[in-house]
Amino acid sequence: MKTYLITGGAGFIGSNFVQYIVKMHGQDDVQIIILDALTYAGNLKNIESELNLPYVHFIKGDIGDADVVADIFAKFDIDYVVNFAAESHVDRSISNPRLFLETNILGTQALLDAARRAWGKDSNAGGYAEGKKFLQVSTDEVYGSLEKEYDEPQPLRLDDKLKKVVEKRKNLKTFGKHFFTEDTPLSPRSPYSASKAGADMLVAAYHETYGMPVNITRCSNNYGAYQFPEKLIPLMIKNVIEGKKLPVYGTGMNVRDWLYVTDHCKAIDEVLEKGRIGEVYNIGGFNEECNINIVKLIINTISEIMHNEPAYQSLLRCRLEDVSEDLISYVTDRPGHDKRYAINPTKIATELGWYPETSFETGIKSTIRWYLDNQKWVDDVTSGDYQKYYDDMYKNR
Ligand SMILES: NC(=O)c1ccc[n+]([C@@H]2O[C@H](COP(=O)([O-])OP(=O)(O)OC[C@H]3O[C@@H](n4cnc5c(N)ncnc54)[C@H](O)[C@@H]3O)[C@@H](O)[C@H]2O)c1
Repeated sequence: MKTYLITGGAGFIGSNFVQYIVKMHGQDDVQIIILDALTYAGNLKNIESELNLPYVHFIKGDIGDADVVADIFAKFDIDYVVNFAAESHVDRSISNPRLFLETNILGTQALLDAARRAWGKDSNAGGYAEGKKFLQVSTDEVYGSLEKEYDEPQPLRLDDKLKKVVEKRKNLKTFGKHFFTEDTPLSPRSPYSASKAGADMLVAAYHETYGMPVNITRCSNNYGAYQFPEKLIPLMIKNVIEGKKLPVYGTGMNVRDWLYVTDHCKAIDEVLEKGRIGEVYNIGGFNEECNINIVKLIINTISEIMHNEPAYQSLLRCRLEDVSEDLISYVTDRPGHDKRYAINPTKIATELGWYPETSFETGIKSTIRWYLDNQKWVDDVTSGDYQKYYDDMYKNR
């Protein structure tokens, strides 16, 4: 029997992870406790069917609320904490840094303390009960920014160790010679990434100081179903469907490494089960692409779907002829905008046998179809003060 405490389980990656665990381990003896404050980014609709299962329990609350968290540990014999809960949007961290420190650093510290108290209690000789683990979901952004050395992507050559593991991926490419590894020094450049780096350091400190059984995972940019439409990919899909302008920062040449969310969930599951205690694992997508190419790909894929499958045209909220690159609107760059992120996943691939199996071509098509088929979800999650936020964000750019 394994009991998971999944924080932020109503958000984008957290809800995908809840669905993944139900699908992969639901038949085993598992219990899933979801703790989520339901901020603008969390929505119970994301886990609607999972919440009907007798072994899934939802608690609305703040990870920083020591009483709420202590109650959970008192009521359930938690084995795994998977901490997704966070303020996660860089732009919001630029306008309100403090909230990011409160949730991402102090919230993580409250969770760590509760786990330490609960798990230490049952331990022998100052150790921790067998099989417990605190997994901190972090980001490659804690490493800062890499140089973009090539204007056009070059073939990515895998070394022999990686070649042995990676089977399904072909034609990989890169915009540079350097990659983040687990040994890259932390050098965060936004309030968001600074808050995540602070949390990572606390988690590492709890391991060193109190012997807490921990792992830290640092992933690249995720994409897939249930992502709130403020991040690049879902925002662009939503705006194309609605025939609205597509705001692209600067020249659109910043490079990100895109990771399909289901591949990420699988990686976290592997680290929980097999990751060496105290270790950091980087999780990359093997898919470097610059923002402007992503935006063009989204426009062209939506247009292609509409032409090949006319039944989909009724889902468009603009004229088909409006779906074109004329929608692109370059706006003033984000302050301190990191140039390039790229991950070397050799450690997780060689130690745990994981690599990102989903090619970007496959992942982006299923993501676009999901957003086309789930516009009611988009309407629901953007029904609050989304429009005001959106207008404020882009009004002076
Ligand atoms: N999305 C990405 O591309 C990406 C990349 C790297 C790392 N990450 C990390 O992965 C994690 C999940 O990211 P996401 O994109 O799913 O984020 P998200 O913003 O979609 O979801 C965050 C969830 O946390 C909840 N939450 C926020 N503050 C809380 C609090 N104080 N107490 C309890 N719950 C709270 C929200 O309600 C929401 O459900 C974050 O820690 C993020 O830093 C995300």
